[in-house]
Amino acid sequence: MISKNIQDLMKQMTIEEKIGQLLQLSADFFQGDNVAITGPLKEAHLDEAALYSAGSVLGISGAKTVRQVQNNYLKHSRLGIPLLFMADVVHGYKTIFPIPLALGASFDPQVMKTASTIAAKESAAGGIHITFAPMVDLVRDPRWGRVMESTGEDPYLNSVMAKAAVNGFQGTLPLDQEHIAACVKHFAAYGAPEAGREYNTVDISEWRFREQYLPAYAAAIEAQALLVMTSFNTLFGVPATVNQHLMRDILRNELQFHGVLISDWDAIGEIIHHGVAGDLQHAADLALKAGVDIDMMSFAYAKYLTKAAVLDTQIEQLINESAQRILILKEQLGLFNDPYRGLSDKRETEVTLTSKNLAAAQAAAEQSMVLLKNNHHTLPLNSATAISLVGPAADTGDILGSWSWQGDPEKTETIAAALAKQFSNLTVTPGTQYHHLQLSKLDDAVNASRQQEAIIAVLGLPASESGEATSVTDIKLPTEQLMLLRRLAKLNKPLITIVITGRPLDLTEVDALSDAVLLAWFPGSRGGAAIANVLSGKVDPSGRLPMTFPRNVGQVPIYYNAYNTGRPIAGTPADDENKYLSKYIDSANSPLYPFGFGLSYGDFTISDWTLSPQSVSPDQPLMVQATIHNAGNHAGTTVVQLYTHQTIGETVQPVKQLQAFKKISLAADQTQTITLTVPYDQLSTIHADLHRATDQGNYTAMLGFDSAHTASQPFTVVTHQ
Ligand code: IFM
Repeated sequence: MISKNIQDLMKQMTIEEKIGQLLQLSADFFQGDNVAITGPLKEAHLDEAALYSAGSVLGISGAKTVRQVQNNYLKHSRLGIPLLFMADVVHGYKTIFPIPLALGASFDPQVMKTASTIAAKESAAGGIHITFAPMVDLVRDPRWGRVMESTGEDPYLNSVMAKAAVNGFQGTLPLDQEHIAACVKHFAAYGAPEAGREYNTVDISEWRFREQYLPAYAAAIEAQALLVMTSFNTLFGVPATVNQHLMRDILRNELQFHGVLISDWDAIGEIIHHGVAGDLQHAADLALKAGVDIDMMSFAYAKYLTKAAVLDTQIEQLINESAQRILILKEQLGLFNDPYRGLSDKRETEVTLTSKNLAAAQAAAEQSMVLLKNNHHTLPLNSATAISLVGPAADTGDILGSWSWQGDPEKTETIAAALAKQFSNLTVTPGTQYHHLQLSKLDDAVNASRQQEAIIAVLGLPASESGEATSVTDIKLPTEQLMLLRRLAKLNKPLITIVITGRPLDLTEVDALSDAVLLAWFPGSRGGAAIANVLSGKVDPSGRLPMTFPRNVGQVPIYYNAYNTGRPIAGTPADDENKYLSKYIDSANSPLYPFGFGLSYGDFTISDWTLSPQSVSPDQPLMVQATIHNAGNHAGTTVVQLYTHQTIGETVQPVKQLQAFKKISLAADQTQTITLTVPYDQLSTIHADLHRATDQGNYTAMLGFDSAHTASQPFTVVTHQ
């Protein structure tokens, strides 16, 4: 139902004003006192009329600035249609949460929801209306830098997290002034570039796309995300941004997405480089026909649609539809009632970087850290232990991670400063660098460590080496850091390695040299304090891997829910004798650390697990009951994971597929019974004709604490009672 206000506006608007709504400009077009036709306007060959009819801007924030820009804009807008303010509020605004891959590792949708709720509240107070998040692209290749922005390799985990993020950003619709609209991205399959190279070709079958990649986008849309962003890549041979099958058939018709579709930055212009449009006018035509409503920074719509609309009534009709969708979004944000959405300096100061928000960021970091190794209970450490703290990431605020635009590394507590509050006997030897480490600095770190009882090496990479446009061909830590670790290991003291990273790394040598390895990701504003709490045992490291960690880069892409081949590895000694199996001759097939893996200070067991019913049907979901016991001496948190496998299918089936999980905390010697439920529909798979359906037949349920170590029980599915 279109409101009267929108209907009236549409009647009053000229075609140029409607096309204006479809234009998104960057901050530099609007900022500065003098909006004369110089700078970006001139370079883009746009005039002042285009500026003051542009429907949205990206990258402006701050209550005062947004008020000024909106106020100035409204003075020039003939019909008083407010400007939309969009930005990448990805894992926090001022209070920075761990990177999304780490939030995925929390295996707790509430953590994602809280992070997104706080990001929304802070950024709404800073004048943002829409965030370009969540990014729900499924990722399997750590060479691609943007894996840090995803929640990982699994369709189910990604779907759960996508929904939680949308609910956190938007709250319950209609939007209130403490929430912002979510723009799910990048539609679609941006996370599968060939060889992990940024912006590269994506070529996956539609069957695989629907089976694994589509579910998380669908979950975000079902959760009522108000916008979708197109992706830079090709899919099924056509650039996504102009792919009518993807955008019209799948997104609009099948997924019933009725919101605003925005291009990625200059993605319409890039269609020319893809060789699918001859010029910008052609690209504009293709994008509009695919249903792209907002052109982010290619200026194609602004330059060519007025002329095209005169010649073609279909174009005019599509412009009307897009403009109307954008006006509806403005209405949903309440901008026609209050174009400033309650902005004030007071509110901005009161709601950003509060101690409550920072505490939530710390809790999220604690929940996302993954303990990868802990030989002989090296961790937790006694607070009186004489510790040598070394390594490039030990004493820096560069622990926020990419896409933390408003976060301030300079004001972020370092790991060294946070540890000093909990460990009274800490010696910090800073000065080692990420790359090109000076030998004298390395000597200092080693010499300082000789005198101490335990060594903590904080290794990793700066934020600038993960995120957009940071593809790599080598996923090992820099040579110099490995040299440092080798020398430290020779000191024969408990050696704890903390890894700061935005992507899975080849940690084979790190694992071999260290007694304990803690994966801290980019842990955010309160990451230092979270690490200190984990090392001292105040909290259990309860993250689990949302992406497989390979033994070496040659195994990539590697993921747990792979298909069996015609010549699978059976896992017996006979595998070594048979050359003609699906394997490598220089590496095992198995990863270093599997999906779902992570240790606890507790020691968990599963017993007495039962399935009911034995025969699942449309009315009877699969229910698994299990008794979980913490047999250790330390309280702990674990993630119980339920996988299934369909024995025979029309198409090949993954060896296992995550279907449910539950995170539970138990005191030492405590026992708890848990139930995990899988609805009948969730057992469905994509068939050869691309339809989704649940098959009757034999299945296996697998229960465990990670994807590689599970116990199995059979069950059946019947499609009718
Ligand atoms: O939202 C981003 C997108 O993920 C990558 N290109 C730029 C956009 C706006 O900043």
